[in-house]
Amino acid sequence: MPADAGGMDDGLTAWMKAEMAFASAAILRCVSATDRVMRRTPFGQTVVPKPGSVVAAPNTDPASGEPDYFFHWIRDSAIVMDALRVLHCRGMCPDARRILDAFVSFSLGLSGLDGASLVRQGLSRHTILPDVLKYVRPNEELENVRGDAVLGEARFNPDGTLDIIRWSRPQHDGPALRALVLLRWHRVADGLGAGVEALVEQDLAFVERHWREPCYDIWEEESGYHYYTRLVQMEALSAGAEWLDEGGNRRQAVRCRSAAQALRTQLDRHWSPDRGFYLSRLGTPRTDPDKSLDSSVFLAVLHAARDGREHGLRDPRMQATLRELERLFASEYAINRSPREGRALAMGRYAGDRYVSGGAWYMTTLGAAEFHYSLAERMVSDDALKGSDRGTLLAVDASRTAKGDDLSPRLTGGSAGPAGALIARGDGFMRVVRDHTPGSGELSEQFDQSSGQQTSARNLAWSYAGFITAYDARERAMAALHEAVQS
Ligand code: NOJ
Ligand code: NOJ
Repeated sequence: MPADAGGMDDGLTAWMKAEMAFASAAILRCVSATDRVMRRTPFGQTVVPKPGSVVAAPNTDPASGEPDYFFHWIRDSAIVMDALRVLHCRGMCPDARRILDAFVSFSLGLSGLDGASLVRQGLSRHTILPDVLKYVRPNEELENVRGDAVLGEARFNPDGTLDIIRWSRPQHDGPALRALVLLRWHRVADGLGAGVEALVEQDLAFVERHWREPCYDIWEEESGYHYYTRLVQMEALSAGAEWLDEGGNRRQAVRCRSAAQALRTQLDRHWSPDRGFYLSRLGTPRTDPDKSLDSSVFLAVLHAARDGREHGLRDPRMQATLRELERLFASEYAINRSPREGRALAMGRYAGDRYVSGGAWYMTTLGAAEFHYSLAERMVSDDALKGSDRGTLLAVDASRTAKGDDLSPRLTGGSAGPAGALIARGDGFMRVVRDHTPGSGELSEQFDQSSGQQTSARNLAWSYAGFITAYDARERAMAALHEAVQS
C-alpha cells in the first residue's frame, strides 16, 4: 500500500505510525501502574495502584494545579481495555491477555467494596486537613455504597479502595461500556475464563436493573437522561442478550432485550427536528450556554460500535449532529479560524465549555477522525451499501471538499470516491492532532482553543486510546478500499 494513499504527502502516515508506537507504550503505563505512588496529602492518602487498575492519567501532580486524575474510572478503564484489544489484534501487545485478566480481577474486586464497613472501621477523618474536609463525602453517603450502588460510583482509587471525595454520582455508562468491551474481547480471544463471564453478567444485570434511572453524564456535570449513556446501555443489553442466549441464560436474555427495546424508544426522543441534531440530554437543568449539542453523542456511536442507519454511523441524523458540532467549533475556537491546508477542525465538547481551557479535546478531535474512517470502511466493505450511502451527508460533504488528488488514483480508480473522500476528511482531523502534538508524542486531555498549547491532565489514557482506535479504523478503511479497487 503506498504510504501516501490517504491524502497529501506531507508525512502524515509516517507520523501516525510513530505516534501509534508511542501511544501504545504510553497507554500501558496507565495500566497496573504499580510503580507509582500518589500522595494525596490533604486527604491523608497514599495511593499505590494495584495490578489491573487503570489510572486515567498517571502523572497527576495536584500541587501544580492540574486536575487530579489518579483514579480508576470505570468508563476510562473500559475505553483503555478496548484500545488494548486493538493492540492485541494488531499484534502490538504480547501481554494483552494477561493485562486483561488482571483488569478483570481488579474490577471484580471493586464490586465487593462496602462503604458501610469503611465507615465502621472509622474513616480516619483526623488525617484529613480541615480545609479539605468539605470535599469529603459524609458518612451517610458512604454507608450506602454497597451492592449495586458500587457500580454507580464512577471512579475508585487505583489501590482498590472507595473514593472518599465528593463527586458527581451516580454515573451509569461505565458498566454498560465495560460489558460491551468485554463482549468484543470475547469475539477475538478464546478461553477468556470465568472472571470475564462473571464481570459481563454482573454489568449486564446492573444495566438491566438501572437503565430507567437518571444519572450524571460522561462529563460528570449534570444528572438526567443522557444520549451517550442510553446508547451504550442499549447496545450492551442487545449484544449481551445474544451472549446470554448462547450461554443458555434465556430468561435474562429476554429481560435484556426488552430493556434494550425500551431504551430504543427513549433514544429516538433525543432527536430534535427543529434543531436538526440529537439532543445530548433530556431532563437536566437548563444551562447557559446550552449543552444540548455535545460531542458525547457521536462518541457514543464509536464506543457502542454501531454502524447502521439507526443511532449508528450511517444514521443521517447522527451525521447531521456531527456536522452541527463541526460548525459550532469552527466558529467558537480561534485555532479553527484560519485552517492550514489539509486541516479539518479541532473539536471540543460543547459550546461555552469552561473546564480548564474549555477545549479543544484530543478525544473528540480523534473521535471525529475515527467517525469518518469507520464510515468509509463501512461504505467499501459492504457491497450493498456502496450505492446507497454515497448520498449521505458526510460523504457528500467530504467529496465536495476533497480534491481529485487527495487520494492515490491507484486506489480509487482515478477519482476520489466518497469513501476515499471520507478518509481524506478523517486525515484532516488527524493533521490537527499532529499540529498540536509535541515531538515527544505525548497527549494531554485538551489543547487550548486559542493558543493550541496542551492543557489539563498530561498523558491522558483516553487520549491515547482515542488515537489507537482512530488509527486502527483508518488502517481498516484503507485496507477495505485497497481490496475493493483490486477486485
Ligand atoms: C470534572 C469533570 O470530569 C469534567 O468533565 C468537568 O467538566 C469538571 N469536573 C467540571 O465540572
Ligand atoms: C473528565 C471527563 O469529563 C470524564 O469523562 C473522564 O472520566 C475523566 N476526566 C477522567 O479522564
